[in-house]
Amino acid sequence: MAAAREVRENIYGKDIYVRGLIEFSNICRNNCYYCGIRKDNRKIQRYRLTPEEILYCAREGYSLGFRTFVLQGGEDRPFIEEHMEEIIRTIKKEFPDCAVTLSVGEWDRERYQCWREAGADRYLLRHETAVDEHYRRLHPPEMLLEKRKNCLYTLRELGYEVGAGMMIGSPAQTAEHLLADIRFLQELEPHMIGVGPFLAHADTPFAEMENGSLEMTCILLGVLRLLFPKVLLPATTALATIAPDGREKGLLAGANVVMPNLSPPAVRKKYALYNNKVFCGAESAQEIERLKKRVEEIGYRIVTERGDSRVGT
Ligand code: 5AD
Repeated sequence: MAAAREVRENIYGKDIYVRGLIEFSNICRNNCYYCGIRKDNRKIQRYRLTPEEILYCAREGYSLGFRTFVLQGGEDRPFIEEHMEEIIRTIKKEFPDCAVTLSVGEWDRERYQCWREAGADRYLLRHETAVDEHYRRLHPPEMLLEKRKNCLYTLRELGYEVGAGMMIGSPAQTAEHLLADIRFLQELEPHMIGVGPFLAHADTPFAEMENGSLEMTCILLGVLRLLFPKVLLPATTALATIAPDGREKGLLAGANVVMPNLSPPAVRKKYALYNNKVFCGAESAQEIERLKKRVEEIGYRIVTERGDSRVGT
């Protein structure tokens, strides 16, 4: 961990970048066995923000100091097809000094290209696991690892800053799987790597599965920082959920990004990918002062710049 901190401080200093996360829809066509917003979960109340509400979130975020907006949602096809391009254009026009990150799943090259031309800068698409057999244990048969990997390579070709990543401690995961994840990441050379512990969600087929651990997640964060010195590495919400000091432990293991929630408070608890997801306190964008204080207590500082990746520079 100390070595990982040193590597990260040599490159990014004491700076922690913040991203405003706008969870615009929890409607999803996919049925990932681990995920609380999977299609077959009939127990959750579905929601979808309007383009105006999304813009309102971005405006609020801008005034709070955010210079990156992450538009994340389920694979809500009709809404995304109809509105995403325009939403990107509007945000980039009103806030030309901001980066727009998309996290909306698997699409064809044309669609990714259209959004890139509309101004999207970055794309988050976790590969979830790099081993085919393991991928098939986490996803229904219609979802293919190869398709996911191809999406990542396409995004990179189109000039996005790309983020891949995996859950730590997902059901049936072994050390060999994690090694394969690392090998895949070495091949992809992503700008960002998102990792967090697997957390069971009660209304999914994995309800009874054991959670991933804080310790293993921090070990992976440290290893990833050592192997990918320049990568942007978030201390994720799942990590902040698994332990009260999870976020801080992640930052001390080499992470350098946090992504507080900018979604309207009324919908936050509906975007429950896993049980007990935290969305107030330092996970809430509106309470960024609390986050700043907690980050300062461990010797780092929140900065309000775009925080582009240094990968490839
Ligand atoms: N536990 C932890 N992480 C999860 N994700 C989805 N469901 C869970 C869960 N139950 C992660 C996936 C996805 C990201 C948005 O959230 O890795 O890519």
